[in-house]
Amino acid sequence: MENLRIDISKTSVSQEVVNGYKSEMASHLKALYEKTGKGNDFLGWVNLPSSINDAQLADIEATAKKLQDKADIVVVIGIGGSYLGARAVIDALSNSFDHLITDRKTPVVVYAGQNIGEDYTAELLDLLKDKSFALVSISKSGTTTEPALAFRLLRNLLVSKYSPKEVKERIVAVTDGSKGALRTLADQEGYKTYVIPDDVGGRFSVLTPVGLLPIAIAGVDIRALVKGAQDMEKIVADEKENSAAATYAAVRNELYRNGKGTEILVNYQPKLHFVAEWWKQLYGESEGKDGKGIFPAAVDFSTDLHSMGQWIQEGVRNIFETIVTIKTPNRTVNVPTDEANLDGLNFLAGKRVDEVNKMAELGTLIAHVDGDVPNIKVELPELNAYYLGQMIYFFEIACGISGYLLEVNPFDQPGVEAYKKNMFALLEKPGHEEDTKAIKARL
Ligand code: PA5
Repeated sequence: MENLRIDISKTSVSQEVVNGYKSEMASHLKALYEKTGKGNDFLGWVNLPSSINDAQLADIEATAKKLQDKADIVVVIGIGGSYLGARAVIDALSNSFDHLITDRKTPVVVYAGQNIGEDYTAELLDLLKDKSFALVSISKSGTTTEPALAFRLLRNLLVSKYSPKEVKERIVAVTDGSKGALRTLADQEGYKTYVIPDDVGGRFSVLTPVGLLPIAIAGVDIRALVKGAQDMEKIVADEKENSAAATYAAVRNELYRNGKGTEILVNYQPKLHFVAEWWKQLYGESEGKDGKGIFPAAVDFSTDLHSMGQWIQEGVRNIFETIVTIKTPNRTVNVPTDEANLDGLNFLAGKRVDEVNKMAELGTLIAHVDGDVPNIKVELPELNAYYLGQMIYFFEIACGISGYLLEVNPFDQPGVEAYKKNMFALLEKPGHEEDTKAIKARL
């Protein structure tokens, strides 16, 4: 059976250079496995796939089934690591026009708490007013403002529509085992809850109930997803510094050390847009600290070739690309012959649309490499839950190795607190009086 594979032949980083990283990578992997490196209290994700058991999956599937039976719309509330992983998998595996499909077996999944836009909030409340809906509220800390605010508003709407018993059956909370406002509220109201393990940080939590519950609600086979991650966990454990994940970590660090400070994740399948959003958080929050870090950017091609293509081809030469490519699409569309050929496209007749897409990919790769933009290729044999599981673990473990190569703690995010502190001061949150005075003096 095929696995996710990596191709570094278009990066100008030779195998010899990669080999030079191997002893360092071996020791970083050892530190990840033995929990002896920086941030070692947040390494629960390293062996998470193999620790997931059948009873846990069955419980998540049963909860998902209950919500599927009850609700036409499930609102998944969360932000950052409590949002992006689920959305990445759900979007990647759903019909591109999912929200317009009326004949459906699973509820429509929509998202809240990932922004504070008032119009977004009002429109969501309008939408749900006359609909049968349920809430999955996800927050590891249980105190993050954006999801807490969304939960308050949406819970109020549920309370105005249903009996207390029914409200209780329409809410699931995924949070810390003992701390935080969401835990207190859930315990007090008797909601079904799932615990996010202490040693798994938000951006590494997609394979906990944080991701698995919404993904199951959307009808995705979470067993296949977990199996893919388990298999990749085993591949990396067997191949260690010779694995594709280690190679990816080495090559991107080598490029960074040679002035390529921005990595652009490229896809040629619009369904992968949120995979890139998830990846951006994983790498951005893990590496961007201590004045260091590769800036993670993303584009959807060929769409963005018509907007960002010029910059990538000829702008500042400080970028490299990582293409996530799908070897074989799930569906087939052939280009028809047209007798009149007024559009001049008969040279494509009989070809699959994917062949056109793949030639756009190859042509772009060659053009960008010619323009001094090194290209790494990560290939998934197919776009399905199993290979997304492989990809999730691949990027996670590569991120751990890469962060250690950069000599940062990849598992904290102290910089995220700065905006929160200012926002609370500006909103005059109790306990922030001194900060309020100080920030107001600056306005
Ligand atoms: O990766 C992280 O730690 C963050 O992105 C968090 O997931 C995000 O800030 C949401 O936090 P919480 O789940 O505590 O609401």
